[in-house]
Amino acid sequence: MTLNFAHRGSLTEAPENTIPAFQKALDYGAKAIELDVQLSKDNHLVISHDHHFRRFNSNITGNIKDYMLDEIRQIDVGSGFGEKFAGTTLPTLEEVLDITPSSILLNIEIKNIPVIYDGIEKILLETLTRHNRIDNLIISSFDHVALKRVQEINPDIPLGMLFYYRILNAWDYAKNSGLHISSIHPNQVYTDQTFVEECKKLGYKVYPYTVSDQERYEELLGFGVDGVFSNSPGIFGE
Ligand code: G3P
Ligand code: MG
Repeated sequence: MTLNFAHRGSLTEAPENTIPAFQKALDYGAKAIELDVQLSKDNHLVISHDHHFRRFNSNITGNIKDYMLDEIRQIDVGSGFGEKFAGTTLPTLEEVLDITPSSILLNIEIKNIPVIYDGIEKILLETLTRHNRIDNLIISSFDHVALKRVQEINPDIPLGMLFYYRILNAWDYAKNSGLHISSIHPNQVYTDQTFVEECKKLGYKVYPYTVSDQERYEELLGFGVDGVFSNSPGIFGE
């Protein structure tokens, strides 16, 4: 069975990584959702791909880490997407957990690049434990040291190893990393038949990102991927 992740929610329909975007993804029948976490100044988990607000609100020049959660709750990130989203703000992880049934596979991506959030892994795992949301979960990151810290806190959480560039024999790197990797999340641009086969020989699931083109999606399925991250409701809502 392929498991396609709604990438940052349904980002073609609503401002990415916001409650309306996640709600849309659920409405489309997504079985899996991906989101990105960052930390506010007062150490709340804030859902955002960027470490700043500039892409959605050019009036705000500071970074997420510079603002208290109460201040972040005042920052509109929706108007730029469309008038009907005016007043939409970045949600906390807890707010997303509240609307996401436990039957949905959640992929939480720790954004530790370029801003390093000291202690984000511990805060994340404490939050998930408090919400009883340790199951049906993948924690991923481009920062493989962050994955190591997650594993040290809880060795049972499935870890997703993200790669931005093509690295030589990424599957061997994963195997030798000392991490209990359950899935490899390569840039779809570099995903080919050999990549998928070698990863799968070692027992890793393969979820390339980000695939919104139907033709490429079918090609990747032909390589044997287990799913993809997609911006297209037609793919993640299948
Ligand atoms: O987790 C898959 C994908 O989201 C990784 O890239 O930059 O969209 O967070 P990015
Ligand atoms: Mg992401």
